[in-house]
Amino acid sequence: MSHARTVLDPLIISYLLHAKMFPQNTDLPVGIFDSGVGGLTVLKALRRCLPAEHLVYLGDTARLPYGAKSAASVTRYALQASRLLVEQRIKLLVVACNTASAVAMEALRSAFAPLPVIGVVEPGAMASCTASLSGRIGVIATEGTIRGRAYEKAILTRRPASDVRSLACPLFVSLAEEGWIEGPLVEAIAGRYLQRLFTGLAATDPDCLVLGCTHFPVLAGAIQNVVGKGVVLVDSAMTTAAVVEQKLRLHGLLRQRGGAPGKSVFLATDGPERFARVGSIFLGQDLRANDVALVDL
Ligand code: DGL
Repeated sequence: MSHARTVLDPLIISYLLHAKMFPQNTDLPVGIFDSGVGGLTVLKALRRCLPAEHLVYLGDTARLPYGAKSAASVTRYALQASRLLVEQRIKLLVVACNTASAVAMEALRSAFAPLPVIGVVEPGAMASCTASLSGRIGVIATEGTIRGRAYEKAILTRRPASDVRSLACPLFVSLAEEGWIEGPLVEAIAGRYLQRLFTGLAATDPDCLVLGCTHFPVLAGAIQNVVGKGVVLVDSAMTTAAVVEQKLRLHGLLRQRGGAPGKSVFLATDGPERFARVGSIFLGQDLRANDVALVDL
């Protein structure tokens, strides 16, 4: 009697292990993280674009702001935040933080491969190249994002003749986290920063301004008042949501529409009450402290 031997190819073994870790289950949520509530602008866009998807959002509020930290620290934080989401089982990861997208994408993609990982810088750069007529593009972001020149590089790769002018506006993060999003004080601060990019001469000023931090879209009204109606404000939320949709479709991971709408779960590493209060402004809907679970990384 002959004994049949089954030899499993190492490639098949690694495929099976990955399949166990990253099951191709359309019902799994999309994971999203940011240093705080800013990434909720991306969650809101995902909700609008992909209403059937379950979403799990993590705000690393205990370590906010990321924008003033070194690239090494932000990468470490981003890996820890992502690991928590991956352990909860997700089918795709959205890095809804420009600062982390600017410095940690390679580390995240290689740590969690084959999980699809999408950042917000590329989609934002793409949107600005489409929106600008003159090619003079302003970028405002955190110190970390500006220091790494991530937007400049991404824009110049797509549109090499562009004139990219970048400016760090760290106080905008504090204003947004404080829920101070409009009024004379906010416009005065915006004016003080933006006078470095805008002289008032339409012929030489940028015609497009990238809000290169997910905290900034809630300040869009005040910023628009300062730069004037002629300047197009670009935020990466909707473009990122479109990229997520393409990616899920490509991987056969889209959750079918027609059933129950997707649910959102909120996690924070500190201050669920504060997260809920300020998060409500970002989401444009009421969020209660009970809806936010406290987690430790
Ligand atoms: N929301 C984050 C971003 O998009 C940064 C805010 C922070 O400094 O933590 O860059």
